[in-house]
Amino acid sequence: MADLAVTVAGLELKSPVIAGSGEATQNAEQIRACLAAGAAAVVAKSTNESAAAKAQLRAAAYALVDSDFNVREVGPAAREDSLFCRSGLVDEAFDQWVGTLAALDREAGDAYVVPSLIVSGVDEAVRMARAFEAAGLRWLELNIGAPHAAEAAAGAIRTGVDLVRPIRDAVALPLTVKVGGLDPVADAAAALDAGADAVVLASRAQGFLSDLETRRPVLGTFAAIGGAWAVPLTCRHLAKTRQARPDGCLVGTNGARNGRDVAQMLLAGASAVQLTSVVITDGADALARATTELSAYLGEQGVAARELVGEAADAVRTYEEASLEHR
Ligand SMILES: Cc1cc2nc3c(=O)[nH]c(=O)nc-3n(C[C@H](O)[C@H](O)[C@H](O)COP(=O)(O)O)c2cc1C
Repeated sequence: MADLAVTVAGLELKSPVIAGSGEATQNAEQIRACLAAGAAAVVAKSTNESAAAKAQLRAAAYALVDSDFNVREVGPAAREDSLFCRSGLVDEAFDQWVGTLAALDREAGDAYVVPSLIVSGVDEAVRMARAFEAAGLRWLELNIGAPHAAEAAAGAIRTGVDLVRPIRDAVALPLTVKVGGLDPVADAAAALDAGADAVVLASRAQGFLSDLETRRPVLGTFAAIGGAWAVPLTCRHLAKTRQARPDGCLVGTNGARNGRDVAQMLLAGASAVQLTSVVITDGADALARATTELSAYLGEQGVAARELVGEAADAVRTYEEASLEHR
């Protein structure tokens, strides 16, 4: 077994494979399944106080889209499939949710259960962050780049780097901040400057697709889209952020479907990688498979996971340097 251990936001993780926040981490049974599949951490579905955000989860819709843009129901996904969907936030009373996550984190053994906040009101987000800390949770994630913000009911989902400082000042917990938006690299640098212990890059893109038979929008709305094709985009965000903030701790999200995708993101500068869509489409076992594949790759290369972090990003040259070599 290769040495999979990494450090994220000052915490020692048994491997870089994390279950990302989403519909496969929205209840205790699902979180336990991710832990049983060996995830080093499980980021729970995000919450806030907005009734509209909860209602949006009840109206969520999902489709798999193949490379010809044929749409089918969600189930096991092929490498070339994209997940096209809209989602909302945890549909459970906050106090109950805090208790559920704190109990799961206590039983997580050598792993972590991580609460996640998406802000509606800043004061409420601060209160919720403090409640997670008071309940004994050991790590907090804040998503300031949710791709659905512009489509959601007014006030349900806020985005922007100005949200980091109030949460940072409210709790001493290790804080990871998920960024997105038009310039994730700038947002990641700003989030680190505002006190994030690590940044998670980057949220999915927004898309629009039409059904060619009915001539209507697929799912009836705009929606977020992701697939393995996003790995190089995420890796570019990671490598550019590493160049801008060499000491910043980075986590990859968006596109990883297997252990070799995880290795790609480590080489680009991530210390760990969140897998979300593949757990929704293929189940929690995808986390165990990714860990085994990563371990096999590390064994082939004769390196530890930590040694991979940023190795390729640090070897990147400018176009000018590359052209000088060809003179
Ligand atoms: C159905 C669905 C629901 C999601 N819900 C959340 C959420 O509540 N909070 C959050 O921070 N990210 C959420 N995400 C984003 C994922 O955690 C992840 O960052 C993104 O999907 C890209 O990674 P992937 O390619 O592994 O899916 C969601 C993604 C999907 C597909």
